[in-house]
Amino acid sequence: MKIPFLNHIHSLESFQYPEENIPHHIAIIMDGNGRWAEKRGMPRAAGHKEGVSTVVKIVKAAVKCKVKVLTLYTFSTENWKRPKPEIDFILRLPKEFLTIYLPELISNNVRIEAIGNMDMLPAYTREAVQYAINRTRENNGLQLNIALNYGSRHEILNAMKQMFLDINNAKLSLEDLDDQVFSGYLNTAGLKDPDLLIRTGGEKRLSNFLLWQLAYTEFWFTDVLWPDFSEKEFIQALEEYQTRKRRYGGI
Ligand code: FPP
Repeated sequence: MKIPFLNHIHSLESFQYPEENIPHHIAIIMDGNGRWAEKRGMPRAAGHKEGVSTVVKIVKAAVKCKVKVLTLYTFSTENWKRPKPEIDFILRLPKEFLTIYLPELISNNVRIEAIGNMDMLPAYTREAVQYAINRTRENNGLQLNIALNYGSRHEILNAMKQMFLDINNAKLSLEDLDDQVFSGYLNTAGLKDPDLLIRTGGEKRLSNFLLWQLAYTEFWFTDVLWPDFSEKEFIQALEEYQTRKRRYGGI
């Protein structure tokens, strides 16, 4: 089935983009693709496909706003429970997206990275993402993190195992272990924690996404389903973020 998804992208010029106090790192749980399709009597895959056009719009908006890091929850360790045809469809989307948009991402100085356990992914997904990572390595604009086969508990357990090995091999001493050292063992090593988490689709939960990294993040939820999410809601989220007082436990 061929579902067009490129003809919905409208001009960004009509939007007033905020310039001050922009979140450095935004993480997004892109939920609601299936319901978007079901509401229209379409197969769930159509919602995922439409979800890719939202990704394109939001990446462009993030570039415009000079966001430094955008992390997108694309496929979780729990998503393997879905029917195989749906899994296959979702895992083909990164290649489809990158085949069409990599040149534009490169010209926008976007650097692609991935978090999650890539080893278990089909070769076509892994290779497309790895190619994009290599091709954009020198870019220093927006870092686009694609979370693929990502699950936070798995990430934390792996970090702990690696830490114990390093402690056993005297590469790390227990006294030196603190928040920052622990963060360095996670997939997001070297990145600032997200300032803003956006979840679309009406649910208000974290679904095993960045549990350690979201400790002091501001949350913004919307009922809008991911395929309907647009620059308008993205800017709304940024504007509401700008009104929040971040105290990090202080007063
Ligand atoms: C959750 O909606 C969405 C997913 C599991 C897939 C997200 C993937 C995309 C938006 C494509 C991204 C592609 C790239 C290249 C980054 P759901 O299916 O759980 O929706 P529902 O809650 O309505 O069933």
